[in-house]
Amino acid sequence: MSDSFGAVILAAGQGTRLKLGVAKPLAPILGQKLVDFPMATAFSFFKNTGCDGSLTLVTGHEKEKVESHASLVCKKNGNTVNFAFQEKQLGTADALRAYFSDVKEAANFDYTIVLCADTPLLRAEDINKLYSFIKEKDLLGAAATFIEPKPTGYGRIVRGDHGFHIVEEKDADTETRAICEVNSGVYVLKTSFVLEHLNSIDSNNKSGEFYLTDLFKNDYKVGALCFDDKDIFLGVNTLEQLEISEKILRQRNMVNLRSEGVRFIDSASTYVDSTSVGEGTLIYPNVFIDNNSKVGKNVILEPGVILKNSVIEDGVHIKAYSHFEDSVVRINAVVGPYARLRPGTDVGEESKIGNFVEIKKSKLDKGVKVSHLSYVGDAEIGEESNIGCGFITCNYDGANKHKTIIGKGSFIGSDSQTVAPVTIGDNCFVASSSTVTNDMPDGSFAISRNKQTTKNDLAKRFLKSK
Ligand code: UD1
Ligand code: MG
Repeated sequence: MSDSFGAVILAAGQGTRLKLGVAKPLAPILGQKLVDFPMATAFSFFKNTGCDGSLTLVTGHEKEKVESHASLVCKKNGNTVNFAFQEKQLGTADALRAYFSDVKEAANFDYTIVLCADTPLLRAEDINKLYSFIKEKDLLGAAATFIEPKPTGYGRIVRGDHGFHIVEEKDADTETRAICEVNSGVYVLKTSFVLEHLNSIDSNNKSGEFYLTDLFKNDYKVGALCFDDKDIFLGVNTLEQLEISEKILRQRNMVNLRSEGVRFIDSASTYVDSTSVGEGTLIYPNVFIDNNSKVGKNVILEPGVILKNSVIEDGVHIKAYSHFEDSVVRINAVVGPYARLRPGTDVGEESKIGNFVEIKKSKLDKGVKVSHLSYVGDAEIGEESNIGCGFITCNYDGANKHKTIIGKGSFIGSDSQTVAPVTIGDNCFVASSSTVTNDMPDGSFAISRNKQTTKNDLAKRFLKSK
């Protein structure tokens, strides 16, 4: 019979050193929150091992906000999460007590996995290593450790003739402080072993805290597995550590995308948080893609493209320095350089949006061209219509926004405006420099400009002499 797991994430801490004004588990990272990462790690560990598993967060500071965020994320991913409440941060052992007292089923799982909310780099495969270690050696508990040349702040692993124990920084003498093998705070423990000892842990130490590390004693059947890669345990306590962790996570994501056929010109200066980028896509430096955006196959994203919550379909070419927010660009369209697509924009298949074009809350059908220097807002433009240079939808009357509708196959001459609300039918022609204020039926022509007056030899009166 396979083992069952209760994973618990200690997330009651405050995180004042981050100076972000939010509880540490809610610190922003890679377009997500810090706590999302250990949660995802726990769920993927359950999934990979195919074992029965349940996740709990021990919350304290800003309990409501942390819990509502965690519930939302889990619901979105089809997972469930339990919560335990630790009123006062009396130490990591006390946090685990809160877990066992608030989550009744916790005692029934074969193993208890302890993770921290602030170590986002730990992966399911790392927990798996620790689990394999405990099984192989038939241990009651295992701590993940690593070698840290500057071990300040960490609990030290004191190995003896038989077994080991953990001494916290504050309680360590000079000799112990010199030990470089440190405790990561990540454990896999037999639940029966935890329950046997948890309540007898005392707070007789320099911090006056209940240390979970007191579960590790020389004469207990416990082990310390030293990991080569110490990056995975990097904790986020400061903004510098947040930046380093975020960089590593982003780089991991891009390495993964590369293995799936995404080509980067220089991944070190590219910022892709989204995991959804299709094969054959080429990404130039200084491209930013947030975690909510999706990019299809064989897309080209030239330098300086910024995508926020946007969808770029297959075969699209986005030229340099274009900015997208809550927008969709459909198959084989070409956009930019220097285009701005604001929320609610939907650019149709094979459409062409050129330089210095701004589009907001508008739907462009297949093959529409807006090639230069235009503003299109609150509009619908039908298939194959061509919008000339310097076109403006005058959509705002100072109080309300109004719609411009342009049918299929119409031609709007350069330097024209539509004063919305207005509808231009299919196959219409608007002469350049026109201001369209009235609806145009299908097939109609409109021109609204003053007749030109030309007076011979009069120019010299206006040309200033030097
Ligand atoms: C802990 C370990 C230390 C290890 C280090 C690794 C103990 C006693 N020490 O120390 O050996 O080297 O992690 O980073 O466990 N938390 C609660 N409730 C509490 C206290 C802490 O939920 O009452 C949470 C924190 O929010 C954090 C985690 O537990 O997510 C670890 O607590 P922290 O105070 O950072 O422990 P360290 O002193 O770093
Ligand atoms: Mg810590």
